[in-house]
Amino acid sequence: MLSSTRLSHSIHSLRSLSTLQLVYSEHGDPSKVIRPSTVSLPSSVPCGQVRVSWLAAPINPADINQIQGVYPVKPPLPAVGGNEGVGRIEEVGSDVSSFKKGDLVIPARSGLGTWRKMGDHSVDHVWPIDNRFSIEAGATLQVNPSTAYRMLKDFEDLKEGDTVIQNGANSGVGRSVMQICKIRGLKCVSVVRSRDTGMDELREELSELGSTTVVTEEEMASKMRGKVKARLALNCVGGRSSLFLAGAVAKRGTMVTYGGMSKQPLSIPTAAFIFNDISLRGFWMSRWYDEGNTQERTVMYRDLADWFASGRMKTPPFEKIPMDDATAALEKAQTKFDKKMLFV
Ligand SMILES: NC(=O)c1ccc[n+]([C@@H]2O[C@H](COP(=O)([O-])OP(=O)(O)OC[C@H]3O[C@@H](n4cnc5c(N)ncnc54)[C@H](OP(=O)(O)O)[C@@H]3O)[C@@H](O)[C@H]2O)c1
Repeated sequence: MLSSTRLSHSIHSLRSLSTLQLVYSEHGDPSKVIRPSTVSLPSSVPCGQVRVSWLAAPINPADINQIQGVYPVKPPLPAVGGNEGVGRIEEVGSDVSSFKKGDLVIPARSGLGTWRKMGDHSVDHVWPIDNRFSIEAGATLQVNPSTAYRMLKDFEDLKEGDTVIQNGANSGVGRSVMQICKIRGLKCVSVVRSRDTGMDELREELSELGSTTVVTEEEMASKMRGKVKARLALNCVGGRSSLFLAGAVAKRGTMVTYGGMSKQPLSIPTAAFIFNDISLRGFWMSRWYDEGNTQERTVMYRDLADWFASGRMKTPPFEKIPMDDATAALEKAQTKFDKKMLFV
């Protein structure tokens, strides 16, 4: 006969497991349409799947756009929010040998829904990462540092001493760009929006991270005009900001657009095309992942693991928030950009 303690333990292990997730059933303002919801996971993990305990997941601009319904990746509704994050394998299906309990994983592609405490996922939907990544670095590895890494590698054959210019430089991607530039011996001109307070501190911080010059958009349009000749420009703002960025691209250089924070169409100076024959390209990390690139992905994550582990790369500042405070966090993520919101 079972003792009462063992009996209650056996009953518990047969029961399904309740877990919290942040769900939206319609598109709209994320702080209004996201709701906490409790779901049950089966008592044992289905074949071909792994049970992941999600440890941390950021709120990125793409997550906001996806919930608003204006992002190309549209998971069927109702959907769990969040495209990236880091989790730990808790249990594997009886036929799974590619993962084991304790492995750190991130989503294999966009749209997985990472704003949840625990989930069962197909083995193809998660990707193992080096356990040298901190929780914060792992949670934000798939999007921003990877985007920076690829844009600095895939468009121009940059040599030590070459110049890269970027706007929106205080963003998560921008901070990764300047740090990778420093590691690779590239000069990095970082353009930021001017602010009433804290401009000197921001210049100092971004210079320490790897920017060789930090300028405001206004300075770029005035005293810096004609002074920068960059092989590569990285644009995440658009509008008037892209006008001055494209004007700073050297002959036959490239401007890569990867974001549109100003919500304005690109402005490009005519002279940049006629006299400098510049190329305009676009980059989307999700597309790159969807295209396969398995070997390159492994190499990229290995390089990034080395750089984070050695302290040569640092994560941006975070505000860590419990999932219960989702509404306030989602409001803040759309209006204040000094810290990345991270659900923990
Ligand atoms: N294509 C891709 O694969 C890919 C991958 C990653 C990110 N992205 C895009 O890259 C951009 C940055 O993402 P992130 O996660 O790095 O952002 P983030 O850390 O949340 O930072 C957002 C940045 O945007 C700036 N910003 C906000 N509104 C602006 C405006 N109206 N004009 C100029 N700058 C503005 C902020 O500047 P302040 O510092 O002055 O507040 C802040 O530095 C987003 O558009 C995102 O969608 C694209």
